[in-house]
Amino acid sequence: MLPANVYSVGFMVDGPLLPFNAGKPSVARLHDYALGGKDNFVVDREMAAELVEIYPPAAVLARDSREFQARAVGYVARQGVAQFIDVGCGMPTSPATHEVATLVNPDARVAYVDNDPMVISHTAALLARPGTVAAVPGDVCRPRDILAHGELTALIDFSEPFCVILGVILDFVRPAEAERVMAVLRDAMPAGSFVILCIGISNGAADIAQDWDKAYCDVARMYLHSREQIKGYFTGLEIVEPGLTEARNWRPGQPPASTDPLPIDALAYVGRKPRQPSAPPSGMAAARRPGGTAGQWPA
Ligand SMILES: C[S@@+](CC[C@H](N)C(=O)[O-])C[C@H]1O[C@@H](n2cnc3c(N)ncnc32)[C@H](O)[C@@H]1O
Repeated sequence: MLPANVYSVGFMVDGPLLPFNAGKPSVARLHDYALGGKDNFVVDREMAAELVEIYPPAAVLARDSREFQARAVGYVARQGVAQFIDVGCGMPTSPATHEVATLVNPDARVAYVDNDPMVISHTAALLARPGTVAAVPGDVCRPRDILAHGELTALIDFSEPFCVILGVILDFVRPAEAERVMAVLRDAMPAGSFVILCIGISNGAADIAQDWDKAYCDVARMYLHSREQIKGYFTGLEIVEPGLTEARNWRPGQPPASTDPLPIDALAYVGRKPRQPSAPPSGMAAARRPGGTAGQWPA
């Protein structure tokens, strides 16, 4: 008989990792399928079909978000940041963070973090390179454990700026918890560090969100965050232009097919920790800076 922490296909369930279950869709495999990947099973594809029926633009939003992340990683690497922590990285997909970052700086280093055992095993097998790329099991709700993980500390120098990527992962975290997670991450960052965020938003589409949630709840709970809550996660950071916007509209390489907001959309936000800690906004200053952010980081 197998020990309790070993599942039938041999994935070890280690600390923050979820149990492997091929009979039930997983967030990572559903997302992989939406991006045209092959690391998914029949249960994932069946569920993806159901989700697309509820909200047809879902797969397009997954690609928008991925393309935004690649543009944002390129931008951050060009600002001189060479260390990336990609939390909720998903199945290996090209262009991956390390592919984009090393195009700018061949010495860039990336720690990929996820709580899905298949993501970690695939990332470890396909992408990991000693001293360059690591696969780190971690739960975004335990950010201190992620930052203290041996695989990560072997790669990331916390005295140098680093960039945390949160691509479509805070969607699985309650807003109050997301605020706490972001505060821990911001505190851990030296000046000059960046956060890249992509997150779903509802533009008054309560009925679609409700149907989606009903279909998705067996896989994971999803939470809608308001624009004000999302801006609050970047308190004290300088916001990179164009600020909070649809992922496809964040510094697009070429004009997107449509710039109009969708009923459910993917928002992009990038911030940089300033050289001097910013005083918390108050009074008139807060009124001029919606969301309590610390101004705009130039183009
Ligand atoms: C929707 S996918 C996004 C993948 C990738 N970041 C992208 O944008 O293409 C979300 C990923 O976050 C992971 N995830 C979900 N909840 C998590 C948690 N609490 N801690 C760590 N990873 C989590 C899932 O396993 C999945 O790989």
